[in-house]
This record gives sequence, structure tokens and C-alpha cells, in this order.
Amino acid sequence: MALSALAAKPATAACRVRISAVAQRKILPARTIAGALEVPGDKSISHRYAILAAIAEGASEIGHFSAAADCRSTLDCFRRLGIEVDQRDDRVRVAGKGLAGLRGSRSALDAENSGTTMRLLAGVLAGQTFRSTLDGDASLRRRPMRRVIAPLAEMGARIRSREGGFAPLEIEGVALRPIEYTLPVASAQVKSAVLLAGLFAEGVTSVIENVRTRDHTELALEEFGAEVTREGRAIRVKGRPKLAGRKLVVPGDLSSAAFFLVAAMILPDSNLLVHDVGLNPTRTALLDVLARMGGSVKPVSVRSENGELVGDLSAQYAPLSGGVIEGAEIAQLIDELPVLAALGPFTEQGIEIRNAEELRVKESDRIAVLAENLRRMGARVEERRDGLRVEGRAAGKLRGAEIEPHGDHRMAMAFAVAGLGAEGATIIRDSECAAVSYPQFFETLDRLAER
Ligand code: S3P
Repeated sequence: MALSALAAKPATAACRVRISAVAQRKILPARTIAGALEVPGDKSISHRYAILAAIAEGASEIGHFSAAADCRSTLDCFRRLGIEVDQRDDRVRVAGKGLAGLRGSRSALDAENSGTTMRLLAGVLAGQTFRSTLDGDASLRRRPMRRVIAPLAEMGARIRSREGGFAPLEIEGVALRPIEYTLPVASAQVKSAVLLAGLFAEGVTSVIENVRTRDHTELALEEFGAEVTREGRAIRVKGRPKLAGRKLVVPGDLSSAAFFLVAAMILPDSNLLVHDVGLNPTRTALLDVLARMGGSVKPVSVRSENGELVGDLSAQYAPLSGGVIEGAEIAQLIDELPVLAALGPFTEQGIEIRNAEELRVKESDRIAVLAENLRRMGARVEERRDGLRVEGRAAGKLRGAEIEPHGDHRMAMAFAVAGLGAEGATIIRDSECAAVSYPQFFETLDRLAER
């Protein structure tokens, strides 16, 4: 057994609630990674299908729904809002009640660790006839919510937050008015909050994005029957549509596949086939970056399902040159940046990430946490306000170390990948946090890594 769950420490008063939070994983170096895998359904798309299914009329059936704890948070919020949700493995049935069918929840809606749940639901709740409270865990309570409060307030919603624009949010639903809103940050969550609120406003709501972000909301809205148009940088949605329940299948999550694809670029002779991954062009910048650095990850048998591109990805090891990642590309691989930073020490010139200040307000301050843990493994890192520079192979081989992911799923997984290519054992503390997006991650890694 190469990756073993180390014994959990006994429960103390402080950790009794989340005993799993202390589970550690040991990662031993691997020679290669090979085989075929499927990844859980895309987290972003699963949230959107669940939300639209709840406010559509009639039943929806969603196949290959994400196994992420984040998406469970969204389903649980809708249960509290009076929607019947039945989940069996990765199949979810939602009994939609239409745009006016939600009912207020007496208790706060708990988004737990999920920024997407909180921000997208804020858009939906702003247009209701009742008051709601949206809350989250300690990490989510530190994340900026002004970015959704501002446009929703412009639409007429009354939202109170903790000082500084932090959760919990108290949202008093009102009859919203449509707006034209230019995104001040490149954020698909903010864009989606405004478009979802636009469903409840009479007239056309527009969002202008200067940097293109993932367009799953636009595609899902069309699937459920809303009128959405895209003209240049503007996305417009017509309010008060009649949304109809649907049968849909969620493609595999490219952001989850990313950990395995990068592992294949670190370990010689690797050969992987990832089945049925979402290949929406607003999400595939990772493939462009790997190709630019000399990597070989090729899409095969690409098709379209529910407006989303899906295909298999075939990855073969190739030594990578490294280089700079910056500009408009950043928004399109924002969730892949942690594992790309962890790839840095295995490349020829190292990897430099610029214009990525958004990483500081994710589930953790990802720039600081990446720098801290890369240094623990012996990497040479320069931390910058908007990114970091990680030196390449010439700075020496990574050494196994104890990794502190600060409760951030993508940190735990990125450093497990780095650990495969390091010398000696790597310990990932609090490895259970991977379940926020990928509960089976360590088991799958264990199955595919060869020693
Ligand atoms: C997401 C958008 C991104 C991403 C997050 C999921 C989404 O966040 O980091 O994991 O589903 O819309 P931002 O919109 O804040 O960049």
C-alpha cells in the first residue's frame, strides 16, 4: 500500500465535529503513472444544473453529478428551500417548482466551503419574496462577497453582510430590476449571480466581461429554456422565462483530471487515458499551457452533450520546458494554477505565474500556501503579490515533506502530485479536505501510481 491513511488522532473537544480533519496521507515516490480513469462530474456544471433544475418547472434528472462536498452543499440548501432532491450515487433527481416555487428557510442556508454555492445562490435569493441568510465555514466567511452584493444591490436587492462585505449574508428578496453590469473582476461566479438574478427581473439583464470566464451558466440556461444571447463581450438574459425540467449528464471535471495529467508530465513513461472529460473551450487553457511547454495531452472522440463539449484525454509523459502563465489565460485555468505551480520544480526553466491575485481569495491564500509548502519540499520560490516564480530542475530535486494544505482541497491534491516525483515520503496533513471537490482522489492516485 503506497498511499496509506495514517491513523487519525483521537477526538479532542476542538476537533470532535470534524474528526476527519486530522486524517493524514503518506505519498511515496512513484516511477510512473499509467492506466485509465474517470473523474467525478464537473463541479461548476453540477452546481448550475442543480440550481436551474430547482427553479425550473417539473422534474430534472442529472447523471454523473459531482461527488464534491461543495455540490452536496448546494443540494442541501435547496432542500431547505423546499425542493425535493433525491440523490442515488451520481444520479440526482430534482423536483423543480418553477421561478416562484422556493419557500423561505427558517434556519441559515449553509454553503459550507463552497464559494460557488454562496455567490450563485445570492443571485437566486435576491429575487425571492422572502428573506434568507447564507452562511459558510471559516474559510468562506473570509472570502469577498462585495463582488456579488454590489451588482445585486444595483438590481434593488437588500443585502446585509458582516463588516467588510463578508458572510453571513442576509438577503431580503425584492422585485428586481434589470441592469447592465461590467464585471470589475474576471469571475464566472459573479457573472452567474447577476445572470441568475436576471431571471427574476422584468426585462433584459446584461453582463459585460472584459476577460472571458467559464460559460457554463450561459449554456445551462439555454438548456433549461432561457433566452440568452452573446454579442461580443456582452451576455444578455431575458427575465421571467419559463424554465423546463430536463434530463442531463454532467461531463467529467477537467480541474480534477488536471492533477493526473500533470502527474503524467512529471513521471517518465506515464501513459493515461481520462474518459469523458468536459472540454468546454473556456476551461481548456491547461491543455494549451501543457502543449506550449512540450507536453502531450490530446483530446480524442470529442462530442457535444447538453451544449458542453466532452471527450477523452490521452496523456503521455514528455519533459516540459516550463515558462510564464499570465494575462487572459489566468481566468481560464484559475483552478489549475496550484498544480501547475507544483509542476514548476520538474520543468527545465521553472514556472512563473503572473496576474493571478485572485488566488489570494480562494479557499486559502493559494499564493502564500503554495510558496510555504513548495519551500518545505526544498523548492526555490519567489512569492509575489500577484503570483509566484518557482525555479526549475536546476534548483534541485524536491524532497518529501510534511504538507499543510490549510483546509484547501486543491493544495492537498497538488502536493500529493509533487510528492510522487519527490525523494522520500510526503505527508499530506488534513488530506480529507480533498473531498471538497474529489472524495476518491487518493484512492485513484494509489491505483494508478506505479512504484
Ligand atoms: C467557479 C469559478 C471560479 C473557480 C471556482 C468555480 C464557478 O471562481 O475558481 O472554483 O463555478 O463559477 P471565480 O468565479 O471566483 O473566479
